[in-house]
Amino acid sequence: MFRVLWLLGCLSGASAGDFYTAGVAEFRPLLMGGSSEQLLADNLSGYLELIASASGQADILVFPEATLNSVLQLTAVPESTEQSLCEAQPGDDEYIASFLRQLACAAQEAHLYLVINVKERAEESKEEHSPRGYLVYNTNVVFDRRGAVVSRYRKWNLYLEPSTNRTELPQLATFSTDFGVTFGHFVCFDMLFYEPAQELVEQLGIRHVIVTKMFNSELPFLTASQFQQGWAWANRVNLLAAGASLPLAGMSGSGIYATRQGALARLMVTDQVEGERKLLLASVPLNPDEEESAKPLDEEPQSPEKGKTMSLKLLQQPDLQEFTTWELPMVASSSVVKRLCQADLCCEFEAQWTPVGPAPGTYRLGVWVGERRYEEEQYSTIRLCGLFACGNSSVDSCGLVADTDVGGWDDDQVEFVYLSIRGEFVHKPRRLIMPSTVTRSHLYALQPSQFSWSQEESANVTHIEMELRQAHRQLLTFAIYGNYYDEHAGGGAGGEMGAPKDHYLILVLMGMVTMMHLIRER
Ligand SMILES: *[C@@H]1O[C@H](CO)[C@@H](O)[C@H](O)[C@H]1NC(C)=O
Ligand SMILES: *[C@@H]1O[C@H](CO)[C@@H](O)[C@H](O)[C@H]1NC(C)=O
Ligand SMILES: *[C@@H]1O[C@H](CO)[C@@H](O)[C@H](O)[C@H]1NC(C)=O
Ligand SMILES: *[C@@H]1O[C@H](CO)[C@@H](O)[C@H](O)[C@H]1NC(C)=O
Repeated sequence: MFRVLWLLGCLSGASAGDFYTAGVAEFRPLLMGGSSEQLLADNLSGYLELIASASGQADILVFPEATLNSVLQLTAVPESTEQSLCEAQPGDDEYIASFLRQLACAAQEAHLYLVINVKERAEESKEEHSPRGYLVYNTNVVFDRRGAVVSRYRKWNLYLEPSTNRTELPQLATFSTDFGVTFGHFVCFDMLFYEPAQELVEQLGIRHVIVTKMFNSELPFLTASQFQQGWAWANRVNLLAAGASLPLAGMSGSGIYATRQGALARLMVTDQVEGERKLLLASVPLNPDEEESAKPLDEEPQSPEKGKTMSLKLLQQPDLQEFTTWELPMVASSSVVKRLCQADLCCEFEAQWTPVGPAPGTYRLGVWVGERRYEEEQYSTIRLCGLFACGNSSVDSCGLVADTDVGGWDDDQVEFVYLSIRGEFVHKPRRLIMPSTVTRSHLYALQPSQFSWSQEESANVTHIEMELRQAHRQLLTFAIYGNYYDEHAGGGAGGEMGAPKDHYLILVLMGMVTMMHLIRER
């Protein structure tokens, strides 16, 4: 129905109430229990089922990173095609896999734009001769409603992907649609860096962004949906994020976010181990600047029955020992006004709280200016200040969630009646400052009605004030998080590698499973 309305309205530009329907799939890949053909077939049939179910509803549908084919089943990916990829054309690359064609056919059949992520096989240039004989990229492919390829993006910021190649320069991948929206897209870890994610927004003016993810959540500041929602907020963009669903490996998190109107749909799988194959749909405003146009989120399960076990294997921010922090005393009806500084950042906190429930846990206020090392010599400088939950008086326990002696990790522990943070963040050309909030309810961020945010520039700093609008009993994190891209001074050496060891283990395991198939099939 919308499509007809839009065709009439598109010449005069988007007017009030114009939407497109977007779908993102949270998707659990099958990793074991068959030959590589069988696994691929299972992944593919899961995709085809979800695409068919979105038919007639969605204008665009996004699947996550690394949930379809493995390096044993590579496919060539044309940069763009005139015709649908559904039918083979004379002169086509012989390495285009049949599963890629089947997905092109599915896009055509369901009449929607389809974004998927594959392991791509590409030819080496004439000068290069690696032992392998070809290049492997981690690649997003976009099909239009006819099944033709309209965009291709090869991941730039690789995360522990040792046998994957990179393009010479980061690519800025965009495509325009018949509903008048131009999307930019990238992959998972790219979202933590300036190139190319932030460039799409700041240099090309992209307002609708797509990200395919297999993201390992980390407390207190970087769980998947929390980060997606904060990023969309800070950049004032609509964001479609599709996440791989492997809770035991720490991976889950999908959502559709509308700039400063918050989440329109989202899913974090926190209380079961298998993961999900689930389609989330939402009507997304064509004009991201239109205030209050989005439909608020449908009823989310608000953990009515608490006492859940946390099944999502979370990482912990590795640098907590470097934070300047202050522990809140857990005494009924407490309040405090506190100023904490570190390096060039000072923050002022005001809080009123009271412990509730039988096992009140504890909280700290903290400020940090420091270098965040991710993997493989990738850095950001982080400037943050905020409140975050801890297990006990030790800083090492902050960002760990544990079932308590008397209940689940998501039980109410402390009620914050009032909470505000004011920070002065230095200007730098490349930075993104976002609200970073997460609650015990499925690890979702606060919605815009629950907090206020104001930002004011002066000569050398940005003043940011963030305030809780209503009392809350399920806060894990309430913070202002500044990612100062590529400001690091370290230039390589030093810096302990932090928590992601677990994640590395999982990747090694996934690699071993692939190896086993390889050996068996030889
Ligand atoms: C299904 O997807 C996962 C993730 O890409 C992959 O490891 C698994 O092997 C897939 N099946 C195959 C063989 O492509
Ligand atoms: C691609 O990656 C392989 C495996 O890491 C490596 O041997 C090869 O040199 C890379 N090729 C280029 C052009 O970077
Ligand atoms: C605090 O919690 C951490 C992490 O759960 C635990 O290892 C440590 O023993 C606890 N310390 C105290 C003093 O209870
Ligand atoms: C901002 O400028 C003022 C006045 O020049 C100076 O006192 C202050 O230290 C500066 N603040 C930062 C964070 O650089």
